[in-house]
Amino acid sequence: MRIAQVSAELAPFAKTGGLGDVCAALPRYLVAAGHDVRPFLPLYGNLRAGRDRMVPVGYAQDVPVRLGPRTFTFSLFTTELPGTSVPVYFVRCPALYDRAATYTADPDEHLRFAFLTVAAIESCQRMGFSPDVFHAHDWHAALLPLYLNTLYAWDRARFGGTRTVLTIHNVGYQGTVSARAVDDLGLAPHRSLLHRDELARGRLSFLLHGILYANALTTVSRTHALEMLSPEHGMGMDPYLRARAKDFVGIVNGIDTAIWSPATDPHLAARYDADDLAGKAACKRALLEGLGLPYAASAPVIGVVSRLTGQKGLDLLEGVLPDLLAAADVRFVALGSGDARLEAFFADLARRFPSKAGFTRGYDEPLAHRIEAGADLFLMPSRYEPCGLNQMYSLRYGTPPVVRRTGGLADTVVPFDRRTGEGTGFVFEHATAAGVAWGLKEALTTWLDRPAWARLVRNGMAQDWSWETQIRHYLALYARLHG
Ligand code: ADP
Ligand code: GLC
Repeated sequence: MRIAQVSAELAPFAKTGGLGDVCAALPRYLVAAGHDVRPFLPLYGNLRAGRDRMVPVGYAQDVPVRLGPRTFTFSLFTTELPGTSVPVYFVRCPALYDRAATYTADPDEHLRFAFLTVAAIESCQRMGFSPDVFHAHDWHAALLPLYLNTLYAWDRARFGGTRTVLTIHNVGYQGTVSARAVDDLGLAPHRSLLHRDELARGRLSFLLHGILYANALTTVSRTHALEMLSPEHGMGMDPYLRARAKDFVGIVNGIDTAIWSPATDPHLAARYDADDLAGKAACKRALLEGLGLPYAASAPVIGVVSRLTGQKGLDLLEGVLPDLLAAADVRFVALGSGDARLEAFFADLARRFPSKAGFTRGYDEPLAHRIEAGADLFLMPSRYEPCGLNQMYSLRYGTPPVVRRTGGLADTVVPFDRRTGEGTGFVFEHATAAGVAWGLKEALTTWLDRPAWARLVRNGMAQDWSWETQIRHYLALYARLHG
């Protein structure tokens, strides 16, 4: 199959969260399965890697493209996903992408991603690439199906056989702009295809129009697909998703074991596997020493690596951690940035408990790996979690997750039962401080039962949430679209 992909992130070039991991893994594992895949990404000013190895793509240099009243010019560049032969295509348009951050609050944010989508379509035309599947990710790329049906409807020769898929990684971000943007987006002649009630309310949502026009819709876990059909988790998109329920499936993300495996991870102080966990103890020691916290084999380390946003429920820790750290010999290690109040809370915790708590503010890929390996428990008290990758990384790293039963966390973590020895982590029900406290108490009680703990760790490490396994669900979906 020929597959084109459009996304705002693709690791290691651009990543702020799991979107980047997934949009790198999909092409990698689709190519491994023998398919021709062309992922498109903006050439951001703050690109994290690859700039020095990029080469221009011959037929797509200085291409002027009209979008509404404006003309933007782009050039296409390409390089390979590190360590693979998977090509990644970068849309260079300094006027839109030379900014200090991947995402901005600039008034043309919607244009940056609408243009990415249009440039991906134009690039396919210039490369002579007719995708069987054009796969769009999140609101950034959600206008793709509509653009194919409008601005590019004339090109049946190229896109007549193309089916579109929209994957919603986070329904909380919808790309909603003022209805005045219709013109800028080049959609003024196609008003009749836009959602009328929305326009009447003076707004236009990228995500909604993807939901209306993509041939197939997916989200990133089975439980979250069901949740999204309800007003509580649909964030206003639930009526439209219900209307398209038969075209909407949940596919649990995989993890890229080439990058996330304790047996090969280059970021770790020592490597280990399920048969020999000595390296994990060394990782714990190194993590704590690196943060200036005293090591004690008996004191469990609770780890957090996260974007600091309301979604992640980390504010609930304000009602739990101060008491826990005061009362118990535990360590708490957090990495993340975002919400100023949460940053201040974690920083304050580290000040109040200098021998027990550490906080690293920012984005730090190697440290994320070292926390997965060096922690004993991994905490994710999410209010909602479409899938979550960190809990799957932590299972693989022998670091049992403590999670709220929601979305992908519910699909991937099985509550540990000390009686039967079955299960992989600790799962609490309510997004409250009491819920988190209960989950941590269960975990810390089990920690004291060393044989049970060893069993728990082994269970988690034996789980297979790899892309080798999960990719077949996407392949089956693509095949159904052409069935
Ligand atoms: P989300 O996509 O909602 O942020 P996921 O669990 O799916 O949540 O994915 C988060 C990804 O981002 C993981 O790969 C995690 O290691 C990474 N990550 C999050 N915050 C940081 C950070 N501060 N530094 C490094 N990596 C981070
Ligand atoms: C989103 C979700 C997260 C998911 C990731 C990758 O950012 O918040 O749960 O794992 O996308 O699909």
